[in-house]
Amino acid sequence: MEESVIQIRNLSKSFGSKKVLTGLSLDIKKGSIFGLLGPNGAGKTTTLRMLSCLLAPTSGEIQILGYQVGPQNEQIRKRIGAVTESPGVYGKLSIWDNLEFFASCYGMSNLKADRRIEDLLKYFELWEKKDQLAGRLSKGQKQKVAIIRALLPDPDILLLDEATANLDPVSIRKLKDLVLQSAKQGKTIIYCSHTLSEIDELCTEFAIIKGELLTHTTPAQFRHQWSTYNVILHVADEHEKAARLLSSLPLVQSFERRGEQFHLKVEDPANANPSLLRHLIESKIPVVFLEQSSNSLEDAYLSMLQGGAHA
Ligand SMILES: Nc1ncnc2c1ncn2[C@@H]1O[C@H](COP(=O)(O)OP(=O)(O)OP(=O)(O)O)[C@@H](O)[C@H]1O
Ligand SMILES: [Mg+2]
Repeated sequence: MEESVIQIRNLSKSFGSKKVLTGLSLDIKKGSIFGLLGPNGAGKTTTLRMLSCLLAPTSGEIQILGYQVGPQNEQIRKRIGAVTESPGVYGKLSIWDNLEFFASCYGMSNLKADRRIEDLLKYFELWEKKDQLAGRLSKGQKQKVAIIRALLPDPDILLLDEATANLDPVSIRKLKDLVLQSAKQGKTIIYCSHTLSEIDELCTEFAIIKGELLTHTTPAQFRHQWSTYNVILHVADEHEKAARLLSSLPLVQSFERRGEQFHLKVEDPANANPSLLRHLIESKIPVVFLEQSSNSLEDAYLSMLQGGAHA
């Protein structure tokens, strides 16, 4: 049994009379990159703020690395780094001074902090700008400073709330590589994002919430459960005829035309495809290719949240 480093039990949060999160329970394993998904207003940031000890739960319990959120916040704060939605940097301080200040808050020695700040600034290509006032930085540059701030103490738990927002593709790649590498070293990352390809690429498991837990799954399981197609057929011509044929074949459970292609759902592509191909060729439909293909996590997510046919 893998060790769980974050245990969330029956967590609820209300603001006044407004309930924003009810009865959330999750176990997050050491060394995992755990995705947190859900529509706008679902309670993701609220959950991360409670995990960062910035916001007290209305009820329920959170244990992080064996410490209890609430009475043991101080111990927890030393071990987590969080990138929140609004990068907290002091505009009137230079990048370097901002980071030195945050390092001192983490209790890092000057020597250790300076070396770490230099490495991270170089990694995120901000070294040349280290003496610039943080207030004059671009959105993406500010975001990088916020990311570096969270990484400074080399935290065991990293909470990333839409951390790739405003970053350019090269910087996104760098952040993703860093996340993957951190997980390999046994760090645990909670990765909150609306970009499903990022969740798919990075996360071993993920949860979808919407005021409560909707599902806790893995990308492969989720895709299988909510897949809308598993075969792609590309025909050069005769699309109407192909559509008529596909609707008459019992082995095709459903299909949808997308431009020159059809996305088909069949029970077992390995068995169904040879027979499907024979039918198409016998009907003189000009097949360009027929291939097994899983749909994207995005397709599966839309299929679930827009009320798919099965649960
Ligand atoms: N301080 C607050 N006071 C009152 N309501 C709040 C407060 N903070 C958050 N909320 C409400 O809680 C709900 C959840 O907000 P939260 O920021 O957690 O959503 P989210 O899942 O992060 O959404 P997004 O994808 O847009 O970032 C929203 O309806 C929001 O208006
Ligand atoms: Mg949010």
